[in-house]
Amino acid sequence: MGAEVVIEGLTKSFGKQAIWRDVTLNLPPGEVSVMLGPSGTGKSVFLKSMIGLLKPDRGKCVINGVDIVRCSESKLYETRKLFGVLFQDGALFGSMNLYDNVAFPLREHTKKSETEIRRIVLEKLEMTGLAGAEKKLPGEISGGMRKRAGLARALVLDPEIILCDEPDSGLDPVRTAYLSQLLIDLNAQIDATILIVTHNINVARTVPDNIGMLFRKELVMFGPREVLLTSDEPVVEQFLNGRRLGPIGMSEEKDQAQMALEQAQADAGHHDGSTDDVRGVVPQLQPTPGLPERTGVRRRKDRVMRILHTLPPAAQEGIIESLTPEERVHYGVGGHSVTTSQRGQLPVDDVATVPGSGWREPQSNQSSDAQRMPPPPQQGRS
Ligand SMILES: Nc1ncnc2c1ncn2[C@@H]1O[C@H](COP(=O)(O)OP(=O)(O)OP(=O)(O)O)[C@@H](O)[C@H]1O
Ligand SMILES: [Mg+2]
Repeated sequence: MGAEVVIEGLTKSFGKQAIWRDVTLNLPPGEVSVMLGPSGTGKSVFLKSMIGLLKPDRGKCVINGVDIVRCSESKLYETRKLFGVLFQDGALFGSMNLYDNVAFPLREHTKKSETEIRRIVLEKLEMTGLAGAEKKLPGEISGGMRKRAGLARALVLDPEIILCDEPDSGLDPVRTAYLSQLLIDLNAQIDATILIVTHNINVARTVPDNIGMLFRKELVMFGPREVLLTSDEPVVEQFLNGRRLGPIGMSEEKDQAQMALEQAQADAGHHDGSTDDVRGVVPQLQPTPGLPERTGVRRRKDRVMRILHTLPPAAQEGIIESLTPEERVHYGVGGHSVTTSQRGQLPVDDVATVPGSGWREPQSNQSSDAQRMPPPPQQGRS
């Protein structure tokens, strides 16, 4: 199973420029998570901080008991071997052909023979649709191909943790759909913990188990996909529907006057930029038939059912609706609504509402705390 990543109070600035502060979240082992956020909010900085390429000012990032913010160089070197990273720009060596680029981590970190290396490299190139391109230099291929080569290289060491910085940027929509399937299939096969940074709404809606969002130098939310997909939080809704109306502007933040002006224009019939207005929980991608089931899905279900009563009603509904009849029996939930035993501290009137029926999350800090991922259960699976 992939490693768990525990991040606590992580804070990063460059000189006087604060990037984000007090980021606290757990990437549950073997689950797939997506981090969203407008351009420039520090998503790439976040990934680089997770592997110790950048040094946060405060906080912890603990992997297998090692806090990579504070550990020795040798521990950091060891821990980095757990990671497969696809950088935003692909980060290929310009003077090496694709074959040597993808073979690089194997030659650097393992004692495998060239025959064994060849088998792995060709397998990963095939997986990412690059068979036949192994002799090409990075400068001789398209941006999307460079991206896929970066992904092939990130996979050669069978990483426990895979970080992908915008794996879909530069890819056409069909290749993006294949890539989404590839990430899910990979997770089914090697059970790695995966964190994907993406601006692609389809990827965000269909791939991850958990979604987070960075905005205004903070982690706005991080939690089970159902929470963000049904959220009324304006910044989350705006982002997931890709429209101009909302708190995010061209230069990240908008003032009230600009927001009011845009709202008035939209009310008068001016296009708000989005092509669809999707609400609610769309089905999640499943591994290609014939592949093993994702064990992370089972673990996540157990975890999410344990914290169900802490989630907003719309998310609860979405989660319960995704259960099979057998799972409903297993978890002791009936029908489509939440049973009394799961109501927890939520007001009774709120519990039975359906997504989009007007329930609003409380705007206090308490609500965002409730939606951040709680510490993982000790006992793991059932
Ligand atoms: N090494 C660095 N030194 C100084 N500032 C940096 C450095 N790396 C990033 N930044 C700044 O940190 C901020 C966040 O950058 P980052 O690349 O993480 O954004 P992002 O969320 O990944 O954006 P995008 O979606 O456009 O990729 C930017 O203002 C950037 O200029
Ligand atoms: Mg980036």
